[in-house]
Amino acid sequence: MTGASPAAAPPATGSRVLGLVGASWRPARPRMLVEAAAARLAAAHGIGTEVADLLDAGPGLGAFQRRDMDARAEALIAKVETAEALIIGCPVFQGGMPGLLKHLFDQAPEGALKGRPVLITACGGGLRHALVVEHQIRPLFGYFEALTCPTAVYAGTAELSDGAPAPALAERIEAAAAQLAALMAPRRTTGRRAA
Ligand SMILES: Cc1cc2nc3c(=O)[nH]c(=O)nc-3n(C[C@H](O)[C@H](O)[C@H](O)COP(=O)(O)O)c2cc1C
Repeated sequence: MTGASPAAAPPATGSRVLGLVGASWRPARPRMLVEAAAARLAAAHGIGTEVADLLDAGPGLGAFQRRDMDARAEALIAKVETAEALIIGCPVFQGGMPGLLKHLFDQAPEGALKGRPVLITACGGGLRHALVVEHQIRPLFGYFEALTCPTAVYAGTAELSDGAPAPALAERIEAAAAQLAALMAPRRTTGRRAA
């Protein structure tokens, strides 16, 4: 990646950002996008991120209704609802977002993510479904009235095959991370004043 080196960056603070990886296996390439965005957010903007996998919720997430889910699933949903900002990363499944990831968000009440900054990433086998970030994932957060970063990040597996995002992809990640930091700035200022 280009830009400021981690050594010169201010210390990352807390885990106010939740990176949520919507893959159903580990390790998953979609997690690389979330981790790259989190690393950039820490290095250039001093903001810490906790990364969680959909797998952390366990099979209880598959219950039809939230009241029937177990503590593991509830804990992940609660993390999503209470995070200051989100970095979403998921694989493309059958031309869309994974159903179980959508199911998690289906449990959150209307308004749960209102005004929440969200950075969207997704990974597919190729480039054919690149617009899934715009046509499927962004509208979901539009429903919640969240504040999505204008730049969404999509990658085909080839762009993540060297163990790190390819240069053009890294530039998009940097842009999106800067947008997330900017969207978080008013809340951070308010939080500091309140502290
Ligand atoms: C059930 C399933 C459906 C998939 N459907 C698509 C698809 O429609 N379009 C696409 O580009 N990739 C598709 N893929 C590929 C995954 O998006 C891709 O493998 C993943 O993002 C890369 O992560 P990995 O390297 O950890 O597997 C599919 C994969 C699975 C398992």
